[in-house]
Amino acid sequence: MAAAAERIETKPSILSVNNIEVVYDEVILVLRGVSLEVPEGEIVTLLGPNGAGKSTTLKAISGLLKTERGEVTRGSVNFMGEEISNRDPEAIVRRGIFQVMEGRRIIGDMTVIENLRLGAFTRRDGQVRDDIERVFSYFPRLKERTGLAGYLSGGEQQMLAIGRAVMARPKMILLDEPSMGLSPLLVKEVFNIIHKINREQGITMLIVEQNANMALHHAGYGYIMESGKIVLDGTQTELLNNQDVKDFYLGHGGGEERKSFKNLKSYKRRKRWL
Ligand SMILES: Nc1ncnc2c1ncn2[C@@H]1O[C@H](COP(=O)(O)OP(=O)(O)OP(=O)(O)O)[C@@H](O)[C@H]1O
Ligand SMILES: [Mg+2]
Repeated sequence: MAAAAERIETKPSILSVNNIEVVYDEVILVLRGVSLEVPEGEIVTLLGPNGAGKSTTLKAISGLLKTERGEVTRGSVNFMGEEISNRDPEAIVRRGIFQVMEGRRIIGDMTVIENLRLGAFTRRDGQVRDDIERVFSYFPRLKERTGLAGYLSGGEQQMLAIGRAVMARPKMILLDEPSMGLSPLLVKEVFNIIHKINREQGITMLIVEQNANMALHHAGYGYIMESGKIVLDGTQTELLNNQDVKDFYLGHGGGEERKSFKNLKSYKRRKRWL
């Protein structure tokens, strides 16, 4: 784990989010100066309570904000040396970032294979068929499901949503709460597969999670966000050993008992985020 932590500090960032501000409907300020770095080939997690702005951060990166009347009004998003904030989502997919949205947005009245083909919409090579087989090798149970995707179980739909992202052959996948609505056993399985895809395909991952335990088990680095700001960040080891993280994120399985970071010394200390 310490080795992973050291590795992450020396690797160059594939994605840099620099002090971004996001506004919805021209007036609702949701992100207030968010910065984060994702090193190439790594898994980074973004944690935080409901309404903190986690999904908004992912949408600011993928360009999907546009579809919800949202806009990056300050700061920059740099991907592989290029400024991408406020670009069209399709242009961002072509550059290599694919977002798996919260709540697995698969197409229910299409089959598994048709859904997977959709993921490859930007590709013109002849290897789509091979890649479908590759996705089935990660998610064998999807291969057996020949009916409409709408009849898949929750876990299978999440697997299909991730498989569809892999079909785009992206450099980076943004995952919004892959554990949502899944049984503990299935959460474990899905995270193991995500990690395997990261290692074998070299796809960088930025994962938003409420399940801090699971996310920090797999991510080399993590950020914690509250009320539109990053309040804490650190390596896997640092966060797992941080008393505040233990008390508020790891201890109670993310229930109502969790207090706010705002009242803690560690929050005040991190001036660079304020
Ligand atoms: N399209 C939108 N228009 C206006 N406000 C929005 C929009 N989407 C999100 N918000 C607001 O922005 C804030 C952050 O929302 P966001 O969905 O990013 O939070 P989150 O951290 O992903 O929460 P959750 O854990 O519940 O998914 C919330 O107060 C939410 O009401
Ligand atoms: Mg969200």
